[in-house]
Amino acid sequence: MSKSFYITTPIYYVNDVPHIGHAYTTIAADVMARYKKLCGQKVFFLTGTDEHGQKIERTASEAGKKPIELADEVVVRFADLWKVLNISNDDFIRTTEKRHNIAVNEIFRVIQDNGDIYLGEYEGWYDVRDEAYITDTQYEEFMELPEPKRPIIERVKEKSYFFKLSEYQDKLLDYYKNNPDFIKPANRRNEVISFVEGGLRDLSISRTTFSWGIPIDCDKEHVIYVWFDALTNYITAVGYPNNTEMLNEYWPADYHFVGKDILRFHTVYWPAFLMSAGLALPKTVFAHGWWTIEGEKMSKSLGNVIDPYKIAEEFGVDVFRYFLLREIPFGQDGDFSRDSVVGRINGDLANGLGNLVSRSLGMVEKYFDGVVLSANEIESIDKSVANKALQTVDEYKNHMDEVAFSKALFSIWELIAFVNKYIDDSAPWTLAKGGQTQRLSTILYNCCESIRIISILVYPFMPATATDIWEKLGNDSAIEKVGEEGLKGWGLLKQGLKVVKGSNLFNRI
Ligand code: MSP
Repeated sequence: MSKSFYITTPIYYVNDVPHIGHAYTTIAADVMARYKKLCGQKVFFLTGTDEHGQKIERTASEAGKKPIELADEVVVRFADLWKVLNISNDDFIRTTEKRHNIAVNEIFRVIQDNGDIYLGEYEGWYDVRDEAYITDTQYEEFMELPEPKRPIIERVKEKSYFFKLSEYQDKLLDYYKNNPDFIKPANRRNEVISFVEGGLRDLSISRTTFSWGIPIDCDKEHVIYVWFDALTNYITAVGYPNNTEMLNEYWPADYHFVGKDILRFHTVYWPAFLMSAGLALPKTVFAHGWWTIEGEKMSKSLGNVIDPYKIAEEFGVDVFRYFLLREIPFGQDGDFSRDSVVGRINGDLANGLGNLVSRSLGMVEKYFDGVVLSANEIESIDKSVANKALQTVDEYKNHMDEVAFSKALFSIWELIAFVNKYIDDSAPWTLAKGGQTQRLSTILYNCCESIRIISILVYPFMPATATDIWEKLGNDSAIEKVGEEGLKGWGLLKQGLKVVKGSNLFNRI
């Protein structure tokens, strides 16, 4: 079995600056990438920007810019944000790069050689905002919406290359049936299946009425349809078509993380293109839900778009990362509100994790000059902590492997509560007064050992906080290097480490 692991985010349109939705997918993918690295896998984590298409051409022209000038400006906003949010991507792809032009033309050529592309004429509706062809029925539905919610829809009539999507209906349905993990969560899978069962029409994959796209090598009058271009990024970045070594190492991707709105492109068009090109299909496309803001749909006209830079600055990067993945199960919709962020900070973070670390390390400083001594004469209450910690590690791994981030965090926080209660029940301060040093050192060792395990589990979600805790414990090795080895048992914390309580991990608001 290959040890390598490949995960992607969608590539983001450069017509707009990043918002919470972009941050959400990217943070989630980062958590998974860090977790897999921790498990010792060789990871390739990709994100990037989707820079072609009519929408970007128009936004640029409205701003009096060339499309590439707009892209060059906005791409910096994304790349910088990922640094601020501590995103560990291995590559950042832009669809305007040369390597991508080569890959797109090559896959187009292969599909054409296989007889799945023909020249025809497209006449119908085009939704510019979503860069999607829509049916007459969809058009009528959109027209019934009130003005501000209505997408920009245009009538298009032009020569176009078509992909024979209609020939892939049965192949796709068979594939979904035989590969239950291909589309997740299950409700989304069912939606896609019913959509495909409803019938597929051939797909227009080139445009001639504007020019901001990748020209087709064999017919330069056409630029490639933006979704055909964009989806191909996932193979460009792992070496398609020339670097077969890299391609064999990482393709097929283990996960494409996407929002629910773009699931169809990833689970109908993309697999059909890949089948036609004779390439393997990604193992899982996981669709997450959408955030509303204080109960409202996020929109520019409402002025409620959440700027991830601001949230990270105000509350802290790790708080933001934690909140997004704890607040709602990955796959479901949820609401972002300042009150719920503050609730998480005061409850889970300050009272839960922060308090456990500060009181435990504070007592080691107070009673043992900061030195962690050994555990002796283990009692049943001590055993229960060890068992709870090891059980948490198992639960956590299962949840992470199911992409159930909020459950994984919930398990860690159950352990935190358990250890906080262990401290209350065993009352170290009373033992100190009574001079029961042996018992006291046992309890404090167990607290520090629990904290060691907790810090590793928390690491993918809150890398800076986990590293801080790890260093407070006096460890000299790097937390990410210890990895899964550090989860292989109880009692791995070295005796004699000098801990430092230092400042609080989180401040109550
Ligand atoms: N360029 C395409 C993706 C091409 S991938 C081959 C695109 N870009 S996007 O910038 O519009 O959106 C990127 C992602 O942001 C999507 O996955 C979308 O679901 C997500 N979100 C946009 N608004 C969102 C929320 N309010 N909440 C959560 N995610 C949201 O689509």
